[in-house]
Amino acid sequence: MTVVPIRELGDPVLRESAKPVTDFDGELRRLIGDLRETLRDSGGAGLAAPQLGVGLRVFVWSPKLSHGSLDHLVNPVLDFPDEEEQDGVEGCLSIPGVYLDTRRRMNVVAKGFTRRGDPVQVVGDGLLARCIQHEADHLDGVLFIDRLTPAQQEQWMATLRSASWFDGNAMAKIKHSPHQ
Ligand code: NI
Repeated sequence: MTVVPIRELGDPVLRESAKPVTDFDGELRRLIGDLRETLRDSGGAGLAAPQLGVGLRVFVWSPKLSHGSLDHLVNPVLDFPDEEEQDGVEGCLSIPGVYLDTRRRMNVVAKGFTRRGDPVQVVGDGLLARCIQHEADHLDGVLFIDRLTPAQQEQWMATLRSASWFDGNAMAKIKHSPHQ
């Protein structure tokens, strides 16, 4: 397992739709190992394969969020059992130093597969649900800044303009979420 440099806003891989995993092989398990190790090293809540430059539908989350049980999903499909929403501050390891209120669904049911290819279902609420929605978005090339309200987008633009790493091209790459 290796700590891999995390791709940051402006890197095209973050805006691409990731491909489904077809081979549940050693390469996939190495990828999940690298995701876990890189997440641990960064201290974040979750990490998706495109953030390591790998266009596959895989993400991991901190085992703390799921009380030490399953910490990853392959080829996830999200379902929302109710209409309840939550507000809370969100950030992304690919957009360092930016934390903004982001509305998410409170409850999620995520179906997918384990690293061994076994079908699995994760039922999550609160922070785990938030994290799973954030990471699933990464697999569709969607970032949390796409989900902000217009007023928050303005706030974000101001933050972005003052950020030391801002390269001027990133703003053109913000797109609107395909989801409601
Ligand atoms: Ni992220």
